[in-house]
Amino acid sequence: MASSTMAESVDDFAPIEEPTSRRGGVYLVKHPLVEHHVTRMRRKQTRPSEFRDLVRRLAALMAYEATQDLPTRPYRVETPLTHADGVQVHGRIGLVPILRAGLGMVDPVLDLLPMAEVWHLGLYRDEATAQPVRYYDKLPPNRPVDVALVLDPMLATGGSATAALMTLRQWGVPQMKVLSQKEPQEGVANVAAQFPEAQIYVCQIDPELNAQKFIVPGLGDAGDRIFNTVEAHEA
Ligand code: PRP
Repeated sequence: MASSTMAESVDDFAPIEEPTSRRGGVYLVKHPLVEHHVTRMRRKQTRPSEFRDLVRRLAALMAYEATQDLPTRPYRVETPLTHADGVQVHGRIGLVPILRAGLGMVDPVLDLLPMAEVWHLGLYRDEATAQPVRYYDKLPPNRPVDVALVLDPMLATGGSATAALMTLRQWGVPQMKVLSQKEPQEGVANVAAQFPEAQIYVCQIDPELNAQKFIVPGLGDAGDRIFNTVEAHEA
């Protein structure tokens, strides 16, 4: 996790190091704002309009953290007075939202990564079997992106994330990152065990899944809460 300290003088700043690629594994994004927003998301009374805002804010905070090891290349620019040496992000970045709920994370992440491509994957979890069902996949057969950010506000069993990562591995994506705001221990462990090369960014880990494979205490179904379809499903 990034941290910063106040420098006494310019000489105190640490030299800038080349970012090194992070290893695969589970990364907990720990920050007071993250915890505040997750708590609001959990609230049963939180209406869809606020829920959508919370998903967006968390997505931006997570994307900031998850992109710390993006490769860069030197880039010299002309300023109004002279020249300056800077960098630009190098390589193709793909955002892979898992429909539906992942759509709620796309815009804030695209705001940070306007050069990214967006590749949608349609997966829903069968309520009877808790297995992922694929219904949309238009990934091209070749030219995989260099880095893929899988976006889904929640994992439960991890089945949907596993299906998404399997698809990306088959596509040939060298670096895979999952951004998921709420997940149980079991789901994270399942995904991490099957994809040790992937970085899995989480905001909070809940202790368990209940008999119906819902996260407890959880936050309900993120897709239904984002798209205001909770009551339609419960009717
Ligand atoms: C939810 C969630 C994940 C999946 C997690 O989607 O957004 O995609 O379930 O469950 P799993 O880890 O056990 O696979 P859902 O199936 O409700 O579809 P939706 O996004 O269309 O609501």
